[in-house]
Amino acid sequence: MDLSVWSASAAVVLLSGYVWQKFCKSQPPWSKEIAALGQPRKKRLSGTAVVCGGSISGTVTARLLADHFERVVVVDPEIGSEKKTRIMQYNAGHLFLHLFAAGARRLWPNFDEEFQAAGGRVAPADTQLHFSGLPILTPWPDYAEGCFPDTIVTRRSTAQKVLSTLLRQHPTAERVTLLPGTVRSIQPSSDMSSIQSVTVRKLDGTQEILNDVALVADCTGAIQGGVKWLNSAGYALPEDIRRTYNGNLRYVTICFFVPPELGATLPIPEHARKAAMIYAYGPHFDHGSTVLGFFRTDNDTYQVLVGDAGTEDDVLPKTASDLVPFLKTFNGYYPIPHWLIEAVDMLCKNADNTFDSIKIPTQSFIQYHRLPTKALPSNFVVVGDASLQLNPVHGQGFSKIILNAAALNSLLRSANPAINLPRDFSAHYFKKNAAYTHGLWDATRLHDYGTSGCEPMVGETKEAGRLIRWFELKLVAAAIQDYEVASALWHARHLLAADRVLLAPTVLWKIFTARSPFYY
Ligand SMILES: Cc1cc2nc3c(=O)[nH]c(=O)nc-3n(C[C@H](O)[C@H](O)[C@H](O)COP(=O)(O)OP(=O)(O)OC[C@H]3O[C@@H](n4cnc5c(N)ncnc54)[C@H](O)[C@@H]3O)c2cc1C
Ligand SMILES: *[C@@H]1O[C@H](CO)[C@@H](O)[C@H](O)[C@H]1NC(C)=O
Repeated sequence: MDLSVWSASAAVVLLSGYVWQKFCKSQPPWSKEIAALGQPRKKRLSGTAVVCGGSISGTVTARLLADHFERVVVVDPEIGSEKKTRIMQYNAGHLFLHLFAAGARRLWPNFDEEFQAAGGRVAPADTQLHFSGLPILTPWPDYAEGCFPDTIVTRRSTAQKVLSTLLRQHPTAERVTLLPGTVRSIQPSSDMSSIQSVTVRKLDGTQEILNDVALVADCTGAIQGGVKWLNSAGYALPEDIRRTYNGNLRYVTICFFVPPELGATLPIPEHARKAAMIYAYGPHFDHGSTVLGFFRTDNDTYQVLVGDAGTEDDVLPKTASDLVPFLKTFNGYYPIPHWLIEAVDMLCKNADNTFDSIKIPTQSFIQYHRLPTKALPSNFVVVGDASLQLNPVHGQGFSKIILNAAALNSLLRSANPAINLPRDFSAHYFKKNAAYTHGLWDATRLHDYGTSGCEPMVGETKEAGRLIRWFELKLVAAAIQDYEVASALWHARHLLAADRVLLAPTVLWKIFTARSPFYY
């Protein structure tokens, strides 16, 4: 071959490498859609949008539907009640990724103000993540001083209260009705093409039928009401539409109420005090499956969260006094810092606390996106855990709702008020959503197959994802040492980049060549 052919081929390889690199590092498809949240439309769609469930996804969905529809009704038996008895994770430690704050700020311009008034903190979304004790770099060099993406830090209970206040305060609230009750069933049109009415059982036991239904949003969380309603209404969903595995996840959250004088004396390094989390620990599965999070939340509360996914059921603390001995059993590549154990010890001895223990039944994904268009009514959507329940350890739950909301909002923006929703609206919504969230289901599930206590999905064995878990170890090893890899990992984790960012040639090269601090 002569030289010009060589150089032409070399040029093509370099150019496609360059194009691939650019593509991998480009903005994820949802970023523009998130920026478009909260913009009112000129002519609203006619009819009533019914939101079934009024927790996090119900509140976000109601707010966004009020931009598009004449009327919105939110149905939840616990609307307005102080304690959310139906939500098992109500007292669990929660972390909110930046994406949640970014989306919620579009929907509610006074989001930060309200959270801060309720005692919440706004802090850089730096989780101080340690893998088996070794710190993963946070990509500070990517951002100018003071510009690192931030988030709100509060207890979940506070987040829930503030969101419902925000919904009631917003100018669109005049179109939103809150109806205490339970959605019992839906009634389709005679040709099954859409849902026409929704039956609600009110708290006094009487029924109310909501007519003139334009859209039904299933926001029932773990109850996943939609499957039952659709089946009873005659849309025969296939058995395997709901995929599940059992992560065997157990969590303990201990919330300490800390007088400011005590808080000031805790031996916490300055950089960790300022971050969203003080310390987080993720396990190398050869050394167990125990996770740890320690953070200061709203109103001088500090939370310690520990979780396990192993086969032994009895390892987690049963009272606050078990906590320090438990932390001393952590046996990773690098010990957890002494100051952390000392701080927790001081809290156990000097601060009041509440103790909550949770066992999470299963992780599940109702794969509505696999159904053909006509198998679903045109005006049915699902937001939040009602379709996809992930292992919560990665803190994606609230942000996933923002991804769903962004997809829904962008489809509604192109709906024509003259015809309301097209026949394929629902199918289109589920396909778009799956493109955004299927990767979260695959990544978290295949990761969990590495723990001893996990039982895989029907049709899979725990061998599935071996290669991915091997890659994960390489990735983490590189992210301990290199800012470009750490940046790709951080942005993908916080849903600010698509997963493909990890496949950019310069990133891949570093992942495969980094010297591993682990034994292999
Ligand atoms: C232990 C644990 C820790 C977690 N940590 C985090 C975290 O750190 N960060 C994060 O982002 N996410 C976290 N999550 C996930 C997060 O809590 C969920 O993703 C989120 O609560 C989902 O909100 P949702 O509104 O979809 O459902 P839910 O909060 O479960 O709410 C469902 C609502 O529907 C109502 N409802 C049910 N049936 C009906 C009916 N038939 N009619 C009317 N209403 C009905 C219920 O009363 C309830 O109010 C965690 C979850 C758990 C379990
Ligand atoms: C937190 O503090 C704020 C004022 O700083 C107060 O309004 C709010 O009620 C407190 N919240 C809780 C849950 O204690």
